[in-house]
Amino acid sequence: MAEAAAAVAKWEAMWSRDGGLQPGQAFDASAVEPAFADLLRAADPPLPREGAGGARPRALVPGCGRGYAVAELARAGYEATGLELAPTAVQAAREHLGGQPDAHVQGGDFFDFDPGAGFDLVYDCTFLCAIPPERRADWAAKIEQLLRPGGELVALIFPCFPDGPDPADAPDTAGGAGGGPPYAMSPRLVERLLAGRRLARLSLEAVPAERLARRVSRAGEFVGRWQRLPDDAPGGEAPAELGEAAGER
Ligand SMILES: C[S@@+](CC[C@H](N)C(=O)[O-])C[C@H]1O[C@@H](n2cnc3c(N)ncnc32)[C@H](O)[C@@H]1O
Repeated sequence: MAEAAAAVAKWEAMWSRDGGLQPGQAFDASAVEPAFADLLRAADPPLPREGAGGARPRALVPGCGRGYAVAELARAGYEATGLELAPTAVQAAREHLGGQPDAHVQGGDFFDFDPGAGFDLVYDCTFLCAIPPERRADWAAKIEQLLRPGGELVALIFPCFPDGPDPADAPDTAGGAGGGPPYAMSPRLVERLLAGRRLARLSLEAVPAERLARRVSRAGEFVGRWQRLPDDAPGGEAPAELGEAAGER
């Protein structure tokens, strides 16, 4: 309880200091990530485009910040929901979305979020890197719970430091990058967290330099897709060997 309140206070302080976090400051990339926009435009295989029973597909962006991805998902035909812990971020996202149809933002804690029905798509963009390392296993369990079978997780994995220690070697504790947030990420870390879950990797690739969203010195981005397996599946396959791109970190 005290930890949850401390998390709200920490993020609220970040969002409200110096008159409020402005577009382009800190983690705010001032636009949707090019790699995600590319996927929405032309993913191969296509992203889930239909909800249960042929309904409009539903997408969630946990820790959505100002809501750039929420807006883009709604434009692409999704009923898009952004979830945010910090009240000032909720306000900033509502202002950014400006009443755009099918783009919603709600206040709340990802770990307590209970939407009732599974999402067709969850987009994690610099959210996993923002939560305390000891909650990463809870993050993986919650992602599995929030997706309907056949739905997908898309993760924009950032910041990745190829020369630093790999946080996958200590997934529950590794900080890096000054202790965070944001905590250092790696594709291997995300693979490790999702191994054993009902989530099967579809792809995991380094984002080309010209499509990077954030110009942090030496930090790379990777984009990965995982498909939610049926409820009666034994669980996601633990990847013994990671792909070439993942090995590069
Ligand atoms: C590094 S920022 C990224 C924001 C946004 N995804 C972006 O890329 O601009 C992480 C965001 O997650 C929010 N957040 C942190 N913990 C959260 C939680 N448990 N539930 C919901 N949002 C959370 C923070 O308020 C912050 O806006």
